[in-house]
Amino acid sequence: MGKYIIAGNWKMNKLPSETEAYVKEVAAATAGAQCEVVCCTPFTNLAEAVKGAENTHVSIGAENLHFEDKGAYTGEVSADMLLDLGVKYVIIGHSERRQYFAETDETVNLKVKKALEKGLVPILCVGESLEQREAGITMDLITIQIKKAFAGIPASEAEKVVIAYEPIWAIGTGKTATADQAEEVCGAIRAVLAGLYDGKTAQTVTIQYGGSMNAANAAELLAKPNIDGGLIGGASLKSADFAKIVEAAK
Ligand code: 13P
Repeated sequence: MGKYIIAGNWKMNKLPSETEAYVKEVAAATAGAQCEVVCCTPFTNLAEAVKGAENTHVSIGAENLHFEDKGAYTGEVSADMLLDLGVKYVIIGHSERRQYFAETDETVNLKVKKALEKGLVPILCVGESLEQREAGITMDLITIQIKKAFAGIPASEAEKVVIAYEPIWAIGTGKTATADQAEEVCGAIRAVLAGLYDGKTAQTVTIQYGGSMNAANAAELLAKPNIDGGLIGGASLKSADFAKIVEAAK
């Protein structure tokens, strides 16, 4: 299975001025980590986050990027800009970006390709809405999201992608998918990858679960064979809570 990665997605939370100290706090709280620990922060906070992570085991990620190298794209941020700051990971296609900022499977694919080309590790988010789950089309939807996101990406690059399965109905709602529900979809994602590529590539890819993951439910989710980590929203904003999830990733 893929390498274990516990990543915090701060979303639009925390100020630049509190970021360096908070990342240091996360590093101290997760000192015994047996997995990769990542803090994904708003663009404005990244330089401070990288400072806080210096000489620690913590890596820093962004929450988005643009798929062009440079140019007239007011308000956008390129892969080179992130790399120049010392950023290693980038979340791509989060459901909040798909829902509120018109991201499509096509732009997600362009962004994943750009991140890989530049040497950033993409954390590709997929997930169904409650309506889609109730209509019984979860697997179809996820399969399409994965196939479109990986279009034109060779196996040697595909294995570097981290996938986060985040059912939209579980995000920020306190309603976690059961470990069995999460495992079912994460296993299906691995099967789609095996079909697109091969078994080895499918096994190498890290597949995270995200959606109301917390200190209390992390161990059960992370014990599942196809769940190699978590993408944590709310519980990543308190270092003690986040550290308990990291602790559970053994
Ligand atoms: P919550 O952990 O707050 O539900 O958010 C999950 C998420 O969207 C992480 O990207």
